[in-house]
Amino acid sequence: MLQLDYRNVLNSVIGDEHGLELHSEFAAYADQIKRIIIDLNSRKDKPEQWLQWMNLGYNEETVWYVKEYAAMVKNRFENILVLGIGGSALGGMAICEALLKPYWNMLSAEQRNNLPRIFFLDNIDPDQIAGLLDSIDLTKTLVNVITKSGSTAETMSQFMIVKDRLEKEMGDNYRQNIVATTDRSTGFLRQIAGEEGYKTFVVPDDVGGRFSVFSAVGLLPFALVGLDVDDIVQGVKDMDLALKNTDINENIAAQNALIHYLMDTKKGKNLSVMMPYSSRLKYVSDWYVQLWAESLGKEFNKNGERVNVGPTPIKALGATDQHSQIQLYNEGPNDKIVTFIRVGQFDSTVEIPRIFEYTGIGYLGGKTINDLINAEADATKVALTDYQRPNVTLTLSNISGYTLGQLLYMLEVQTAIAGELYGINTFNQPGVEQAKNYTYALMGRAGYEESANSIKAKMAAV
Ligand code: PA5
Repeated sequence: MLQLDYRNVLNSVIGDEHGLELHSEFAAYADQIKRIIIDLNSRKDKPEQWLQWMNLGYNEETVWYVKEYAAMVKNRFENILVLGIGGSALGGMAICEALLKPYWNMLSAEQRNNLPRIFFLDNIDPDQIAGLLDSIDLTKTLVNVITKSGSTAETMSQFMIVKDRLEKEMGDNYRQNIVATTDRSTGFLRQIAGEEGYKTFVVPDDVGGRFSVFSAVGLLPFALVGLDVDDIVQGVKDMDLALKNTDINENIAAQNALIHYLMDTKKGKNLSVMMPYSSRLKYVSDWYVQLWAESLGKEFNKNGERVNVGPTPIKALGATDQHSQIQLYNEGPNDKIVTFIRVGQFDSTVEIPRIFEYTGIGYLGGKTINDLINAEADATKVALTDYQRPNVTLTLSNISGYTLGQLLYMLEVQTAIAGELYGINTFNQPGVEQAKNYTYALMGRAGYEESANSIKAKMAAV
């Protein structure tokens, strides 16, 4: 199982000013944590609670459908193109980057076992879109458009561009190159898919975008590129069982949620850095940043009182960011808690040859890159601790579907528990909706005229 090491947040290690007396904190919060875990598990099947993501590990039907569809289209496409943004893209990117062979899209078809390349278009940069469309043959591409609401301007614009091109290039056959993942019954994409006859998958009710990676939102792209979805889902399920434990001493999601909450509210550490020591886990940080930020950054608590809470998540990558951010983390304001992610066993071992004798670099020869990245991770951890900077470490035995399923699901539960500790609604995103609405207004969507006038007046005043 995934391991959490929280030794370096203890006051006995980093001192009373910055550290926590966790033994007594765990005891003080034991009942509240127990109530939170029982409450989340008892509400998860009820409508409007937005907790259906806790059931995704048990959704055998979806697993079956995505595998069946992937088998059906096998060998038909050279590329998968995922259109989506935010929660509709980040989980897919995180897991594909972690589990596919590095530089997957650069490998030959033979090296990929004839499985398709995969591209995520998660932005609306004109140069990027034009560049991508110049680079791939759309007629040999399966386009998976993903949007729960079916109206997000970025995703629907991408889709309109790609659909138009496909139709021009393929005539009526273009429909075979589109699969839509969206709400079961509502939204424009659902309507269009029905009218046009696209194959569709469902974003389940009461599952928000940032908690949707283990629904068809993530599982379909994973199956299409040959990832073992059963292994991923097994990891989710086993972690879910482990996290049903209501004893804080046995529940790592509860422990890490409480540690982060106390660090923010008692010790002023309101910046939360996620730093994996593995390039394959780089996008796990992007996914985590969205999960933590959108879930916990809230203006009001559940009683409607203005609280403006939320720790700010930051992504970092070891060892790369030792040469950019660590100076600040060691010596700058002591306002952060760092979460390291470590990998017990890398898939590859790369030796550093003994080709230079110079004293300053000769010592590297004969070691492995694995030794080096692990030494750097240890060094950063010890240095931060010396500077009395709190840090925790999550360790995966290796990088696999099973361990990734565990890691991402654990972070989802950690976020849900943290939200309860802050007393806020973890599952809404009024700040995101407001930005979406302003965009609709500025782009001339009917019904948003008043808002458009008010925004234009504000812009003119600036
Ligand atoms: O987590 C969320 O709810 C958001 O980030 C959404 O995923 C994002 O805004 C995209 O929304 P949609 O899937 O409706 O296009």
